[in-house]
Amino acid sequence: MKIIYFSLTGNCRRFLFFCKLDEEDVISMTDVDIVDYDYILVTPTVGFGEVPKEVTNFLNKNSKYLRGVVSSGNRNWGANFAIAGDIISKEYNIPLLMKIELLGNKSDIEKFKKIYEEMKINDKI
Ligand SMILES: Cc1cc2nc3c(=O)[nH]c(=O)nc-3n(C[C@H](O)[C@H](O)[C@H](O)COP(=O)(O)O)c2cc1C
Repeated sequence: MKIIYFSLTGNCRRFLFFCKLDEEDVISMTDVDIVDYDYILVTPTVGFGEVPKEVTNFLNKNSKYLRGVVSSGNRNWGANFAIAGDIISKEYNIPLLMKIELLGNKSDIEKFKKIYEEMKINDKI
C-alpha cells in the first residue's frame, strides 16, 4: 500500500511530510504514469468544488488499484469543503478516508497514520 499525492500549493505534500512515513511509501503523482500497486490518493480540491484535472487524468488510467482517498480543502468553501474526496469516492466506489483543512493538524496526522498502518496490514493479509 503506497500513498500517491497531488499538490498544487504544497499543503498535501506538507501534510504527508509531517506524517513522517517511509519515504518510499509516499509518491508524487508527477513521478508516476501507470501504477500497479494498491494506493491511497491524497488530493486538494480546486475550482468551485472540483477534482484537479491532473488527478482526473491520472485516475482515468489508474483507478484499478485505488483503495481510498484523502482530500484537502479550505472550510471557507462551505459545502464545497474538500469535496474532491466525495466526488472521487462516489465515482470509484472507494472509501473517503478523511478530509483535512489545508495541511491538516496534529490530530489529522495521527488519524491518517493509524488508517494507513491498518490498511497496510490488511493489504498484506
Ligand atoms: C483556485 C483555488 C480553488 C479552490 N477551491 C476549493 C474548493 O472548492 N473547496 C475547498 O475545500 N478548497 C478549495 N481550495 C483550497 C485548496 O483545496 C486547499 O488550499 C488545499 O489545501 C490545497 O492543497 P495543495 O496545497 O496540496 O494544492 C481552493 C484553492 C485554490 C487556490
